Amino acid sequence: YNKGGKGARGLRFTPVAPNTADTVTIPEGYAQNVVIRWGEPILRGAPAFDPDKQSAKAQAGQFGYNCDYLGLLPLWSERGRQVLVANHEYTDEILMFKGYDDANPTREQVEIAWAAHGLSVVVVEEERKSGKLTPVPRHPLNRRVTATTEFKVTGPAAGSDLLKTSADPTGTKVLGTLNNCAGGETPWGTTLHGEENFNQYFANSSRATDKRYGIGTAASERKWELFDKRFDVAKEPNEVHRFGYVVELDPYDPTSTPRKRTALGRFKHEGATVRLTHDGRPVVYSGDDERFDYFYKFVGTKRMAHGHSRRAREHNLTLLDEGTLYVAKLTGDSPAIEIDGTGKLPKDGEFDGSGTWIPLATATAKGAVSHVEGMTAEEVFVFTRLAGDKVGATKMDRPEDIEPNPHTGKVYVALTNNTNRGVGTNAKADEANPRNANKHGHVLELTERWNRADSTKFAWSLFLVAGDPKDPATYFAGFPKDKVSPISCPDNVAFDRYGNLWISTDGAQLGYHDGLFGVATRGDRRGELKQFLTMPKGAETCGPIVQERRVLVSVQHPGEIDDATVENPASTWPDGPGTYVRPSVVAVYRKDGRDIGV
Ligand code: FEO
Ligand code: CA
Ligand code: CA
Ligand code: CA
Repeated sequence: YNKGGKGARGLRFTPVAPNTADTVTIPEGYAQNVVIRWGEPILRGAPAFDPDKQSAKAQAGQFGYNCDYLGLLPLWSERGRQVLVANHEYTDEILMFKGYDDANPTREQVEIAWAAHGLSVVVVEEERKSGKLTPVPRHPLNRRVTATTEFKVTGPAAGSDLLKTSADPTGTKVLGTLNNCAGGETPWGTTLHGEENFNQYFANSSRATDKRYGIGTAASERKWELFDKRFDVAKEPNEVHRFGYVVELDPYDPTSTPRKRTALGRFKHEGATVRLTHDGRPVVYSGDDERFDYFYKFVGTKRMAHGHSRRAREHNLTLLDEGTLYVAKLTGDSPAIEIDGTGKLPKDGEFDGSGTWIPLATATAKGAVSHVEGMTAEEVFVFTRLAGDKVGATKMDRPEDIEPNPHTGKVYVALTNNTNRGVGTNAKADEANPRNANKHGHVLELTERWNRADSTKFAWSLFLVAGDPKDPATYFAGFPKDKVSPISCPDNVAFDRYGNLWISTDGAQLGYHDGLFGVATRGDRRGELKQFLTMPKGAETCGPIVQERRVLVSVQHPGEIDDATVENPASTWPDGPGTYVRPSVVAVYRKDGRDIGV
């Protein structure tokens, strides 16, 4: 590693060594605080956390479980405060309830789990002289959205026969959001949240379309179908068509109905990241996190309105309903035989090539048009994976978070891993996914033609091929590999104010815990990857935000290891022995009050 605080501006810290400590380990000279834990009360009337006496009502007023995406939005009217928005991806019942019997969950346990899913909005306050953040309970903007909150479906699939159920013959009203993984903030002041592995909540399906989405033919693991028949596909076939979307929330209006935006397609949305075209229309990137699945781009047709008037806000809440959904096809420019993962570079010295955004369907105010032969527009928006299959999109190694660099416009795609690549009859390594049995993942750098967000052509190259730098099949944008941190399984990505890329990992396969890394994307230090923090046992690093004075991360599913239970925990982070392990948000800041990494 680099010794001392050298590095690109914004990354001048001593890297944290890979480790297996059951704590959040941060660089020398930095401090941390737990901003908020699972179960802390945020709404008026919510009781203090008491895990032995938990109720669904209490949980619905408390911070949810397994925080993932984090957004921090300005709160101009209140000095030193910001609005924190968090996803709660899923529940770990075995670590939430003493004596949990997964064959026979109780109604109360299931209803607590419903209330622990969804989203939280909570106002947070900065300590004056540091980057420390603390929640402001009972703030009027604080809100919980759960698996039973009412959503409105908008865009081309709203009202479709495919979305009608016995409880909702209109096909426009859905209860809840599930498995919200990554997300993004819009330039118009809302947040987007990807519904990812929604398949796991549904039982008893026999349809081919459901199979393509991984929906099971038997009982679900949590057995929610025993308590609400909408989770039983045999009894309520269309409910499952109402999950797998990007949802949009207006965190500034706690009474607003959150929306499911069908124009962005239905798949296992890892997240959704927005940029604007040169003329002010939204472009949204989103990955479908599955082995051999695709990544997508939505290009809107309406321009964003500026200002904070009610009219502007209402207009901007329609931007994601009209536009074209595209899927990515990538072509390498070197013979595939040279990129078999032995560490040899392709003949031209780079893993790179060109790409096309293939249009799938266009949604307009007057209706939607399909660009896929043999599928209606409604089918494209509801069975988007099948549309990608038909047009020959490129099968990727689990496309996770995607984010454009605000300084350069280049787009970074995290591909977490794919141990099935090249196994049996599966697709073999190609230049964009250059490793068979890809255990450690990679990061792709994509340049839209003319650097225009709405281009239908792009160039791409690999930025990182992750793993132990001593492994010849790794690549750090050409930076000397004896000077970088090992990294495995890139998942979420974010940019700091200097244009450095920050990468959090999920399921690192090098024998160390997951963590957060920063890497320069430009200049002499491009590719110099440095580890900023490590996670407690069993935890995944999620939702990174890098502000001037703090780094914020979600510590998701700490203690989720093998047969761990409440009585026999693998971790008791953050509060120590005798307490429940609790997924939490952590802020990291400089002890001397200065900016991060300068
Ligand atoms: Fe929930 Fe794709 O990570
Ligand atoms: Ca993720
Ligand atoms: Ca090449
Ligand atoms: Ca992941």
